[in-house]
Amino acid sequence: MRAIVLHGSPRRGGNSDTLAEHFIQGIKTTGDVEVFDFILNDMKIRPCQGCESCATSENHRCAIDDDMHQIYDVFADADVIVWATPMYWGYMTAQMKTALDRMEALAMNVKKYWLDKEFVAILTYRHHYQSTIGFFERVQDYFRFKFSSLLYCSKNENGPEDFHVSTCQEKLDEASSLGRSIGVKIITSLSLLP
Ligand SMILES: Cc1cc2nc3c(=O)[nH]c(=O)nc-3n(C[C@H](O)[C@H](O)[C@H](O)COP(=O)(O)O)c2cc1C
Repeated sequence: MRAIVLHGSPRRGGNSDTLAEHFIQGIKTTGDVEVFDFILNDMKIRPCQGCESCATSENHRCAIDDDMHQIYDVFADADVIVWATPMYWGYMTAQMKTALDRMEALAMNVKKYWLDKEFVAILTYRHHYQSTIGFFERVQDYFRFKFSSLLYCSKNENGPEDFHVSTCQEKLDEASSLGRSIGVKIITSLSLLP
C-alpha cells in the first residue's frame, strides 16, 4: 500500500499532525505501507498561476518547476491520500489550499489520479469544519474517490489554550481505527485485482 499524508498545519506535532500519525499507525496494522509525508509548510510550492498549460499541454504537466512535483510524482500510485489540516478563517489552511490548487494538473486524468482512491480529511477546528467537508463532498461525484473524515474540536471553553488531541485518547483511538478499517479495505481491493 502507498499512503500520502499532506500536512497542512504549520504546527509540527499539533492536532492534525498527531491524528494523521495515529491514522497511519492504524493502517500499518493491516499490512506494509509506504508512507510519503509532505510537510507543506516547509515546501516551496507556488500558487497556481492559472496559465492553463496543464490543460493544454500534451502531458498535462504543470509549468511551475517547484516542490509540488514531489507530490505529483507519487500521487498516481497512492492508495490513500490523507488531507490533514486545521481550519483557518473558515477553510483549510493556505498551505493546503495552495497545494490543492496545483492539483489542477492532476484533474485532467480522473482514472489515473483520483478514481477509487481513499481520501481521508483530518480536520481540526475550534468552531466549524463544514466548508472543507463540503468541498470534498462536492467534488467527489466528479473525481469518484472514496471519502472519509475525522474531526476534532480543540476548543477549550474555559481558557485561551486549546485542548491538544493527545489528551483525548478516544479521538486517537478513532484515528487509528479509521486507519485500520481503510487499510483492510485497500488490502481487500488489492487482493481482488486480477
Ligand atoms: C490563524 C488561525 C485561524 C483559525 N481559524 C479558525 C476558523 O476559522 N475556524 C475554526 O473552527 N478554527 C479556527 N482556528 C483554530 C484551529 O483550527 C485549531 O486550533 C486547530 O485545532 C489547530 O490544529 P493544529 O494543531 O493541527 O494546527 C484558527 C487558528 C488559527 C491559528
